[in-house]
Amino acid sequence: MMDLTTESLTEAAPAKINLYLHVTGKRADGYHLLDSLVVFAGAGDRLRYEPGPEPLHLVLAGRFGPSLTDAAGPDNLVMKAAAALESACGPAARVRGGRLILEKDLPVASGIGGGSADAAAALRLLNRAWNAEVDQATLLRLAEKLGADVPVCLASQTARMEGIGEILGAAPVLPECGMVLVNCGQAVSTPEVFRKREGAFVPRAALPARWPDAESMVADLARQENSLETPACVVCPPVQTVLSAIHTLPECLLARMSGSGATCFGLFPSARSAEAAAAELAQAQPGWWVWGGGLA
Ligand code: C5P
Repeated sequence: MMDLTTESLTEAAPAKINLYLHVTGKRADGYHLLDSLVVFAGAGDRLRYEPGPEPLHLVLAGRFGPSLTDAAGPDNLVMKAAAALESACGPAARVRGGRLILEKDLPVASGIGGGSADAAAALRLLNRAWNAEVDQATLLRLAEKLGADVPVCLASQTARMEGIGEILGAAPVLPECGMVLVNCGQAVSTPEVFRKREGAFVPRAALPARWPDAESMVADLARQENSLETPACVVCPPVQTVLSAIHTLPECLLARMSGSGATCFGLFPSARSAEAAAAELAQAQPGWWVWGGGLA
């Protein structure tokens, strides 16, 4: 029988986007309670595993690989995920060393869950490659310890996220739509943005079971907000410039920030209209990271 564990395996780590994000409360430990509709874009990082005799280590590649150079050690979320999975493996697992190659194509610390998606991809990838057979409930528990956004990235499917990120529920069925993602190149600290948030908590959103078309989805989403958008604009003023630029693109239905920023997104009637708008913006703003396409 062919030994699949000697082959190189790859996992996609798609970008997560918060279509809205309400801060609904705060826990005693300082973490914030959220209500968020999370979707995944066609854009993402890729993680490849090449088993080998050397101790497991991380190699960084891709457009944003160099910005992570200091993090290729054990503190990188991918290596932490590997260590967490190893500790959960049973005796039948075939834990091995070798290279994990992270193609980092998403901007770092940018509110689209790059690091969380990478960690979730590492859990999925090594669970497969090591024949570890760690069950889904255990993977979710490991994901939760790695970071608030890692559980939702484990399945990388549209979900309603509550608690601090660990409560995942059904989301409305989404209509066809396109998305543009834009990042100005400034990394934003998530704890700092949460600290700067002021004002009342926002209630949980009322959502339908499905949206028949992009217009009805946008009409509902326009009633929601990202509670971190205002504090992120204080920490990183270019976010406001990016939002205005997305808003003025042809056919843009909604412009909003994702997560704690600084990446913002625009919703469009189709993947094709989003691609065209992204091409236009990329030409006008060559210093920005711009992506356009469909949802994952
Ligand atoms: O869990 P994660 O490492 O992604 O969170 C980074 C920081 O963001 C936390 O230490 C906390 O300050 C803040 N945070 C929060 N409430 C959340 C998620 C994150 O306050 N639900």
